[in-house]
Amino acid sequence: MNLPRLLATACCLALLPLAVASPSHASGGPAAPDRPLRQLAADDHLRIGTAVDVSALTDDTDYRRLTGSEFSTVTPENVMKWESLEPRQGEYDWAAADRLVDFAHRHGQKVRGHVLVWHNQLPSWLTAGDLDAGRLRAALHRHITDTVRHFKGRIWQWDVVNEAFNEDGTLRDSIWLRTLGPGYIADAFRWAHEADPHALLFYNDYNTEWTGPKSDAVYDLVRSLRAAGVPVDGVGFQGHLSIRYDLPTGMADNFARFDRLGLATAVTEADVRMPVPADSGRLATQAEGYRRLLDACLRTRRCISFTVWGFTDRYSWVPDTFPGEGAANLFDEDYRPKPAYRALQSELAGRARSEAAG
Ligand code: XIL
Repeated sequence: MNLPRLLATACCLALLPLAVASPSHASGGPAAPDRPLRQLAADDHLRIGTAVDVSALTDDTDYRRLTGSEFSTVTPENVMKWESLEPRQGEYDWAAADRLVDFAHRHGQKVRGHVLVWHNQLPSWLTAGDLDAGRLRAALHRHITDTVRHFKGRIWQWDVVNEAFNEDGTLRDSIWLRTLGPGYIADAFRWAHEADPHALLFYNDYNTEWTGPKSDAVYDLVRSLRAAGVPVDGVGFQGHLSIRYDLPTGMADNFARFDRLGLATAVTEADVRMPVPADSGRLATQAEGYRRLLDACLRTRRCISFTVWGFTDRYSWVPDTFPGEGAANLFDEDYRPKPAYRALQSELAGRARSEAAG
């Protein structure tokens, strides 16, 4: 184990509560987990994370306690997106994102910054503005520079570019591609690196966990960016699965080819949704989906973090986005741990990844 990793582990274990309060104490649910995920993951040299809903973090004490006790990294679910940070042109609102970064600091957690360049959740002044290429490029440069500088030194990994590809491996027809051409991707990484040279810069996407045209396209992209000296450090695999489809296989082999490029990897947004209502068979399949994602990460030398996209069904994006599906998270709506939580616990406990990553 290298020294920085040793210090990071020691620092964070020291901040952990001695025993985890029962997540379901208030609701009278099953007994507490023995050891929180973050402790088990530390033994495997892995950071385990969750996306955080900052309103819930403020208003819901059970949510706040579990966010702090179970996870060693956090991702803002929405509050670092462009529409949240700059709802009116030139007027930044950092308050909610700063609250989360402060929370993380107090709890010995690292932060995944999410997200600098995406086609969704953009402010309307930008999308409706009909900016020509010169102005749009300047706006993107300013957004990346101001945002990365604001959080400089406090963000571990940035999702610099998110979801740039279609399923067939062609580039997505977004405002960025249409107006700026494919060079926007390399520009974004260069600008982010100038603003915080120590942050790890990631390309992030979904349906890229297995091999196929889309993950091949991501592979070709990051390989050519590296060859051109563009500062890309890692690839994020979102990990949004549904039990309506066969659970993916071959993920570790896919992650391995990125590893061989010398890149860090991460599972960045894991959840496994199902048709609702949940039943024991569906929950077992879901647990296997989570287990496979974590297994692929643990088998990959430089897979440095495993993040779930929210940890409780109480605040999940799934029912609003995928009608008829839900129950996608590790804890149910009353904070009772589900089989998927137990599967991650035992997967982490049963492994001893000796290699220090990241
Ligand atoms: C989702 C959030 O979870 C929702 O609350 C929001 O309404 C839409 O965005 N891929 C991503 C995330 O990279 O930013 C998305 O988050 C989920 C899909």
